[in-house]
Amino acid sequence: MAYGFDTLQIHAGARPDPATGARQTPIYQSTAYVFRDADHAAALFNLQEVGYIYSRLTNPTVAVLQERIATLEGGQGAVCCSSGHAAQIMALFPLMAPGRNVVASTRLYGGTITQFSQTIKRFGWSAKFVDFDDLDAVAAAIDDDTRAVFCESVANPGGYITDLDAISAISDKAGVPLIVDNTSATPYLCRPIEHGATLVVHSTTKYLTGNGTVTGGCIVDSGKFDWSASDKFPSLSQPEPAYHGLKFHETFGPLAFTFHGIAIGLRDLGMTMNPQAAHYTLMGIETLSLRMARHVENAVTVASWLEKDPRVAYVTYAGLESSAYHDRIARICPRGAGGLFTFALKAGYEACVKFVDSVEIFSHVANLGDTRSLVIHSASTTHRQLSPEQQKAAGAAPEVVRVSIGIEDPADLIADLDQALTKACG
Ligand SMILES: Cc1ncc(COP(=O)(O)O)c(C=O)c1O
Repeated sequence: MAYGFDTLQIHAGARPDPATGARQTPIYQSTAYVFRDADHAAALFNLQEVGYIYSRLTNPTVAVLQERIATLEGGQGAVCCSSGHAAQIMALFPLMAPGRNVVASTRLYGGTITQFSQTIKRFGWSAKFVDFDDLDAVAAAIDDDTRAVFCESVANPGGYITDLDAISAISDKAGVPLIVDNTSATPYLCRPIEHGATLVVHSTTKYLTGNGTVTGGCIVDSGKFDWSASDKFPSLSQPEPAYHGLKFHETFGPLAFTFHGIAIGLRDLGMTMNPQAAHYTLMGIETLSLRMARHVENAVTVASWLEKDPRVAYVTYAGLESSAYHDRIARICPRGAGGLFTFALKAGYEACVKFVDSVEIFSHVANLGDTRSLVIHSASTTHRQLSPEQQKAAGAAPEVVRVSIGIEDPADLIADLDQALTKACG
């Protein structure tokens, strides 16, 4: 029987604890798991049997979360890890090698632009940033060394929606996987695998947890990519020396990427999610649909009010009819464009700084996707490492403020913005 989203967000992956009957998923606060005997231990270490060895690799609480997110995304398997940024490295790790590149959208979270333009160079990897509305440019950027195409479904912070169908057609044709960061949309609003994504990555820190308590990340595998169709992905298609020549794709089929993520990725990179974090995220996911519907409703109300305010130059939210991306909502994220958007103040940079210092209900923090409304001036914080050109391309120009609209009473949010705008702009 195919259950609906609201049922799956509570039940997928979980069952009453077999030892105690506990109805809520226990926090399995254990580093290691006793082997039945030496043969059992050998089978686990040879990947001939699936089970728990050591919590750097697998943990029963984290396993429930992995199955829950994989189910909600419509994927075959998932690996959780310590943060959204860890998830991005874990997603690229099996695909890349020195000299290889990822073709990435210019419209990404500022931290991801920094990770891709600076830090991954230390592994000998590189990124080519392209405007993902210029489909010819995306196709032209993919070369013989490209091993992945990367974008966000609903981009942070600019209210941009990626045409995932068009991008996946290009990556498919080139024989490279499409990785979609679905953090801002969540699987309630957008299911990238249905639009051709190979892998979906998340910062579970944001809406999936939803209450600003823990950092975490997740990589969901669609199970649909043929890793053996070319010689481009030897980590998945060729013999793995650390496992006596086992070939992940041949052995695990559609679960190859997931098994590789655990058996090689978590084993050797060690970016593990702890069971406490998994617990908080499981608690959050139980109410995901209710929260996301309210985030969207409030974002539409607040963005519509801001758009009419004479102190505001423009609002970039795809949920507004004025947005160039409004017509992508029905196809890409039919339940709404999320709770995140930016607006620009006519009075410029200094007024933005004064504005974030004047809000009372909104919190000035470097986070998004909380029940609370949050605000940040990206150009002076999260995006300050970027060049002015990169800031503008990422929707974080100096006169722009980003808001993550929470699930409070929308009239209170508007009143707070109004008083802060008065203090900032006169
Ligand atoms: C869209 C997006 N992806 C990834 C990340 C990185 O996630 P984390 O902070 O959990 O590493 C963020 C963080 O803000 C984000 O907004």
